[in-house]
Amino acid sequence: MYPLLRKLLFRLDAEFSHHLVFSLLRALYRLPGGSRLLRRRVPALPLTVMGIAFPNPVGLAAGLDKNADLAPILADFGFGFLELGTVTPRPQPGNPKPRLFRLPPQRAVINRMGFNSAGVALFLNNLYQWERTLPVGINIGKNKDTPLERAVDDYLAALRAVYPHADYVTVNISSPNTPGLREMQSQEHLDELLRALKADQSALAGIHGRYVPIAVKIAPDLDDSQIAAIAELVLKHGVDAVIATNTTIARPGLEQEPLARQAGGLSGHPLKPLSTAVIRKLYTHLQGKIPIIGVGGIETADDAWDKLAAGADLVQIYTVFIYEGPGIVKRILRGLADKVAASGCATLVDAVAKARGGG
Ligand code: FNR
Repeated sequence: MYPLLRKLLFRLDAEFSHHLVFSLLRALYRLPGGSRLLRRRVPALPLTVMGIAFPNPVGLAAGLDKNADLAPILADFGFGFLELGTVTPRPQPGNPKPRLFRLPPQRAVINRMGFNSAGVALFLNNLYQWERTLPVGINIGKNKDTPLERAVDDYLAALRAVYPHADYVTVNISSPNTPGLREMQSQEHLDELLRALKADQSALAGIHGRYVPIAVKIAPDLDDSQIAAIAELVLKHGVDAVIATNTTIARPGLEQEPLARQAGGLSGHPLKPLSTAVIRKLYTHLQGKIPIIGVGGIETADDAWDKLAAGADLVQIYTVFIYEGPGIVKRILRGLADKVAASGCATLVDAVAKARGGG
């Protein structure tokens, strides 16, 4: 059914389509039995990462549900976890529209949303309305009008607010659409940021009686020495996970595409090899001491498997969801379950270890 719906939706503005689809889904969800109608039965591929038990390794990447108001619907699609946000401490409108562009021939998207956010108070209010059924990561960012020198304050304010409500918290320092944000990945800024976050995390764990892992989300546009420096810092500070990667400012293979000139981050198919390469390099430095969440251009079970084999412990998807609809989650999970069965291993983790040459 989705290919037909997609034909219709792709004639409309991309951001408008998103709101239309989720308004319809919300209406459907509210009908008696609506949730049951939307719910997908997916293969169980349980695993534990960052001390969190996940029903399967395929999560929703940040950016689709920025305000935590779609979570009940998304939870029915079979994801192993949802990453909500990016949420900023204070509300902000994001960049002027249009700011989201589809590139169907390349199965890609360019976005320059710029952290449109309801702010952390409303975000949490939305989150309270939902009786959770799966692990939730909350992705935090800085407000646009907060100068870079005070960025740490924004991350700490957001961390303190979301901490008691998250299974893990992602620190987004890699969106290309907030001026200066990616400078937070530099050695000097990152060292200071991680030191502050880890100190707060430890205080918050005492206050709330629960340790909530912190993940750092990085860009695909980093050279080898930058990846090595980030790996060294996350090891030094004991960061709980690295998410690789965000969207790219590069335009690989899009030389002939007029829309490629739009400013913003590119996601989907063309991002796939860049993101997998970052995961592979990161893994050589981290050696499994810190888990990696792999994201960028996953379209099939084979793509998800490539990310896992390159060193990821979990994966996330976003752009393929726009092109394939919600049924993609089940298709990827079925494909992964088939791979586990074919490997002769009992679990996904064992099958991945074998594929990496360790089992
Ligand atoms: C994103 N992404 C993103 N990431 C993030 O950390 N915070 C955010 O708010 C957003 N917003 C956002 C909006 C849109 C429209 C897109 C397409 C993407 C990045 C996303 O989480 C993911 O890292 C990349 O899109 C790569 O994965 P896919 O889309 O290629 O599967």
